[in-house]
Amino acid sequence: MRRSEPSGGNLDGCTLHTVERVTPETGRPPASHGIDVWLMDLSLFADGLSLFANPLSLEERERAERLRTPLLRQRFLAVRAALRWLLGLQLGIDPEDVALVAGVHGKPLLAGSEADRGLVFNVSHAADRAALALGWNRSLGIDIERIRPLRHRDALAERCLAADELSCWRAAPEAERQSRLFRHWVGKEAFGKATGLGIQAGFDAISMDLEPLRISAVPPRFVPAAAWHLAELEVAADYVGCLCYNGPPCEVRVAELALHPALPKKFPNGPEMR
Ligand SMILES: CC(C)(COP(=O)(O)OP(=O)(O)OC[C@H]1O[C@@H](n2cnc3c(N)ncnc32)[C@H](O)[C@@H]1OP(=O)(O)O)[C@@H](O)C(=O)NCCC(=O)NCCS
Repeated sequence: MRRSEPSGGNLDGCTLHTVERVTPETGRPPASHGIDVWLMDLSLFADGLSLFANPLSLEERERAERLRTPLLRQRFLAVRAALRWLLGLQLGIDPEDVALVAGVHGKPLLAGSEADRGLVFNVSHAADRAALALGWNRSLGIDIERIRPLRHRDALAERCLAADELSCWRAAPEAERQSRLFRHWVGKEAFGKATGLGIQAGFDAISMDLEPLRISAVPPRFVPAAAWHLAELEVAADYVGCLCYNGPPCEVRVAELALHPALPKKFPNGPEMR
């Protein structure tokens, strides 16, 4: 999905919409049968980040403390606080009351009495960007990556790409190979995250076409491949992103979640920013 696409376009069954800019102060309900993707520029959340710890659980705060650098800590806090805020809005509860657990392979899921309401979500972060996807009654996964030089690029391609993908990739002009590999990467990761298996999904068992973007083969336990949909996300310059979901094709809305210093700075029921 490209932000520059005109509203109402169509890609792989997903209705495209131009991005609106949304702040926590002006949050809106998600598409009732669709998926909302929220993009965060974490550099905009740099001030007063310690205050974002407020809605987090003790376990999350301890996890933040264990992160290597203050920057990683700040990013984790901002994304978790935003996730809790968005989930809380949908569930009609305070961000601090959102109960989260980790699935077998680590996928965060809703727990407690809210677990059966059908709200699903997934999160990805890369450098100073993050993406959060929320939907209902389906499986979804999201992945973003910063496009960067890869020292073992060809070896990575051989490890992650299925045989048909690898031949197409090798046939592509050298100048396109890096970005094409990253597009495969985020598509496969998004699929792995949608299933909850993460990296265990086996990337070479998933095959995708880049033009038009679609999944053409999935591991046997997830067939048919046609039940899975991909939507490419325009995250920022030098980033790639992809959403993967199953079930009927649906509207995917993309918005930026921003706390700008000039805007009112309060998470509903959450901390005020300095
Ligand atoms: C953990 C993993 C699910 C994603 O890791 P990642 O791409 O490095 O990081 P992302 O930021 O995109 O995703 C991490 C988030 O996904 C969620 N997550 C964790 N485990 C998950 C799972 N099994 N399924 C779905 N989501 C999961 C969490 O929300 C986590 O962030 P949080 O702990 O701060 O809440 C896993 O797939 C992994 O380790 N991938 C390695 C990447 C790789 O080698 N790729 C090569 C591709 S060619």
